[in-house]
Amino acid sequence: MSDVRILAIESSCDETAAAVVVNGRDMRSNVISSQIDLHTIYGGVVPELASRKHIEKINQVITQALQDAEMTLADIDVIGVTYGPGLVGALLVGVAEAKAISYAAKIPLVGVHHIEGHISANYIENRDLEPPFLCLVVSGGHTHLVKVSDYGKYEILGRTRDDAAGEAFDKVARAIGLGYPGGPKIEKASREGDPQAIDFPRAKVGDDVYDFSFSGLKSAVLNYLNGCSMKGIAVCQADVAASFQKAVTDVLVAHAERAIEEFGMERFAIAGGVASNGVIRQAMQEMCARHDVQFYRPSPILCTDNAAMIGAAAYYDFIAGKRSGLDLNAVPALKLGEA
Ligand code: KG4
Ligand code: ZN
Repeated sequence: MSDVRILAIESSCDETAAAVVVNGRDMRSNVISSQIDLHTIYGGVVPELASRKHIEKINQVITQALQDAEMTLADIDVIGVTYGPGLVGALLVGVAEAKAISYAAKIPLVGVHHIEGHISANYIENRDLEPPFLCLVVSGGHTHLVKVSDYGKYEILGRTRDDAAGEAFDKVARAIGLGYPGGPKIEKASREGDPQAIDFPRAKVGDDVYDFSFSGLKSAVLNYLNGCSMKGIAVCQADVAASFQKAVTDVLVAHAERAIEEFGMERFAIAGGVASNGVIRQAMQEMCARHDVQFYRPSPILCTDNAAMIGAAAYYDFIAGKRSGLDLNAVPALKLGEA
């Protein structure tokens, strides 16, 4: 089969991104325009501002992605675009852009599930990785433990009942005065702190052993902060950050380990923004080594939102025969497996 050159577009949250990926694995360019500075003063992503910024940036980002790949639209075989889940106004910018290019340049269109993209980020730097494998997707909006049975075939073993792991990082960071975005700031602060300093809870969720819950942990941090303020005790930001991060890590590792034991999988991957966390990566790596399981993790830049991962996922959808029409719409609450 001849090469499949994909131009991928991602705009589901606060990154405007475009990339060129060949045959799902060969990343020729990966351009990301982050809106972090724009949202920082509000302490989180403001959806309307995100949409407007996407409109402003998207053409520029696509032009750059093609230039970096030394290609023009004439070289592109497929347009891949995230159509859900995410912020509706943000998604719509990418979807409308992808449809316009597909129509004008007569290039087939493939709508991609954002989480499928995060999982597929692992294919880019690991040419040997093929399903079946287990994948823990930990991002700002999602915490899913997934069995990837085949390309495009996912079984969700567990998910969060309340906050996503990244959301917990963001909320705790705000509470201890570190600001947005929480994940990287907590990781940095934690380097000076003691992970054993405060014993925050490791939540168990009823009978669904693979489900997660992070709102209890978040409340425990808030209660601890309130308690300190009432007693007039100074809070050590670094200790809170390190102890919170340890509690999240322990829960993520325990769930992953249980799934590895139960399903006897030989490969385990992590994905999503939180998977860029060094402490979590290290703990997962050690756990996998104990079980003689091959561990995969994308480079940090491919963990947080990017379009290369969308290009990787679009390739496997495309060769499986999936095509989207010009009626493709943004689906903010798209479920994995419905894509
Ligand atoms: O995957 P992502 O870029 O966007 C979503 O699809 O949600 O993930 C963003 C999330 C944010 O909650 C951010 O705080 C978290 O990933 N994150 C981190 C780190 N870097 C980003 N969490 C922990 N440690 C990090 N180093
Ligand atoms: Zn994401």
